[in-house]
Amino acid sequence: MEIEAGKVLIGAGEIAGRVEALSEEINLAYGTQPVTLVGVLDGCLMFFADLVRRLEMPLEMTLIKIKTYGGSTVPQKDAIVDCEDVAEVSGRHVLVVDDIYDSGRTLAALVEAIRRAGARSVRTCVFLKKESAREREVRVDFVGFTVPDLFVVGYGLDYAGKYRNLPHVAALEGRDEGPAVA
Ligand code: IMP
Ligand code: MG
Repeated sequence: MEIEAGKVLIGAGEIAGRVEALSEEINLAYGTQPVTLVGVLDGCLMFFADLVRRLEMPLEMTLIKIKTYGGSTVPQKDAIVDCEDVAEVSGRHVLVVDDIYDSGRTLAALVEAIRRAGARSVRTCVFLKKESAREREVRVDFVGFTVPDLFVVGYGLDYAGKYRNLPHVAALEGRDEGPAVA
């Protein structure tokens, strides 16, 4: 079956409204405390850019890259976090910004690495939270939307590198079975 972006799950206007509300929650939570935002590329790109422009505390930002998915909708390996990437968070209040909390492996690995790097506090913010079975539980402090257990694309989220540019979130239709096992 051909795999393509299907019906709109969350429209662009709804996303904008929710991001605004979420930024108010984050502004309230931190007040005037300085924060380091750690964004997880590439998926966080749109969310991060929209969110950060609404934050009012003094902040620094670091964007890092973690690879967990290949050209499949099925997780293939554990998230690998290079601790050098997060070294500068020592002594800082850190807010991790990710596209989606799915199995939890990415966020769990990243939160651990940031703690090891000596952050003063670590909180997490995700654009989407899936209702799927969790492999690693992570406390997620700020959530944009909770979505059903579907593979979703758009607003930064991809399938095999495609659909990141969609202004809305859509469900992927024609879900694949992951890599063939020899
Ligand atoms: P985790 O399974 O919670 O570790 O999520 C790992 C990463 O997989 C996320 O940061 C996304 O980049 C990607 N991912 C998980 N679910 C989806 C999805 O439905 N669409 C697109 N990417 C996804
Ligand atoms: Mg990601």
